[in-house]
Amino acid sequence: MNILVLGSGGREHTFGYQIAQSNLCEKLFVAPGNAGTSEIATNVAISVTDFKAIKDLVLKEKIEMVVVGPEDPLVQGITDFFSKDNELKNVSVIGPSQEGAKLEGSKEYAKEFLFRHNIPTAAYQSFTASTVNEGKQFLETLNSPYVLKADGLAAGKGVLILKDIDEAKTELENMLTNKKFGAASEKVVIEEFLDGIELSVFVLTDGKNYVTLPTAKDYKRIGEGDIGLNTGGMGAISPVPFADEDFMNKIEEQIIKPTVDGLAKEEIEYKGFIFIGLIKVGNDPKVIEYNVRMGDPETEAVLPRVKTDLVSLFKHVSDQTLDQVEIEIDPRSATTVMTVSGGYPEGYEKGKEITGIEQIKDSIVFHAGTRLDNNKVVTNGGRVIAVTSLDDDFRKALKKSYHNIEKLHFDKMYYRKDLGFDL
Ligand code: AMP
Ligand code: GLY
Repeated sequence: MNILVLGSGGREHTFGYQIAQSNLCEKLFVAPGNAGTSEIATNVAISVTDFKAIKDLVLKEKIEMVVVGPEDPLVQGITDFFSKDNELKNVSVIGPSQEGAKLEGSKEYAKEFLFRHNIPTAAYQSFTASTVNEGKQFLETLNSPYVLKADGLAAGKGVLILKDIDEAKTELENMLTNKKFGAASEKVVIEEFLDGIELSVFVLTDGKNYVTLPTAKDYKRIGEGDIGLNTGGMGAISPVPFADEDFMNKIEEQIIKPTVDGLAKEEIEYKGFIFIGLIKVGNDPKVIEYNVRMGDPETEAVLPRVKTDLVSLFKHVSDQTLDQVEIEIDPRSATTVMTVSGGYPEGYEKGKEITGIEQIKDSIVFHAGTRLDNNKVVTNGGRVIAVTSLDDDFRKALKKSYHNIEKLHFDKMYYRKDLGFDL
């Protein structure tokens, strides 16, 4: 069948890389894609939220499956757009309905869902501009540090963690009254701070059944030792060594099962990925957030370990027959290290020529922010290229990634050299 992947990052290159290897895939399209996806698929220059243009492409190219990479089209309702359209309703969309996507699109919605289903998470209350004073009083009842979250999507920047109570009150006011994050902070969730080590689990569900994909840990800060500004993610390691069988059983029983059962019970259409951000507090997992898609760069470390044909998995999702699947996972560890443009996550230049890609043989190169310019690969984003390696343990895999990354070059290239320092 013909398949379309929506998105342009390392996550989408990884999806394309796996899908292109499937016998079930005839023609593969990526929209808008990058220089890497152009080698394995046909790139189509349309935006992931231009539903009309996506419809035209799907009809013209007889596309039967659409895999949605990022959250924006999901939160804007692409799945419902397909299911409600007579010409598109038989196309399989891998991604939840607009209602399901609220698990990521609204922090308050996610917290209410977690509490309704008794899933462990931090205590919270939410506030609006008219209850800003109650919000300040609530802060008084908590201990430092204070966690303030813009309710809506804020490009990964909407969470503030503040040590000082006066600063927390000021920022609450900035978010609610001065719309610091625009419409996204018209509502703010204030949460109890959870102290522990983070990891992520990934679930693929058909709305009734699910398969659990490998765990991963990403490195969000720009600086070594986890300091400095937050980024989209500077690299990832899979599996997470401290997530042993006992801990994974807790995650399955206390978090994954009640999440999928909760979606089914509430009749929320959900055929896609659930990315659960967790924190290990003592020996117990607690949910920090849901995302309704795969992570980036976690995908670049997780998917290369999935040996089961990805397209067949997606067909089972579409047919609601995931209960018939025994997923096969590569027991080796995978690491991915992200190279970024100098200046990222603040201002950076684009259009720098990238050399050395073809010299990398024993790692996989996933393009994130790249494009072709006169047959040359040039930088086209903050995160540029991820180098993924597999080996017996994560330290050996990291060594391979770091060895190979030295073959890459572009002006002001930067990457973190300390991934795994905390494990
Ligand atoms: P989120 O966008 O909800 O994932 O939050 C971004 C980051 O803030 C998370 O990856 C955590 O590092 C941190 N964080 C969020 N909520 C909490 C919490 N309740 N306690 C401690 N850290 C948190
Ligand atoms: N790497 C974090 C995310 O994809 O949200």
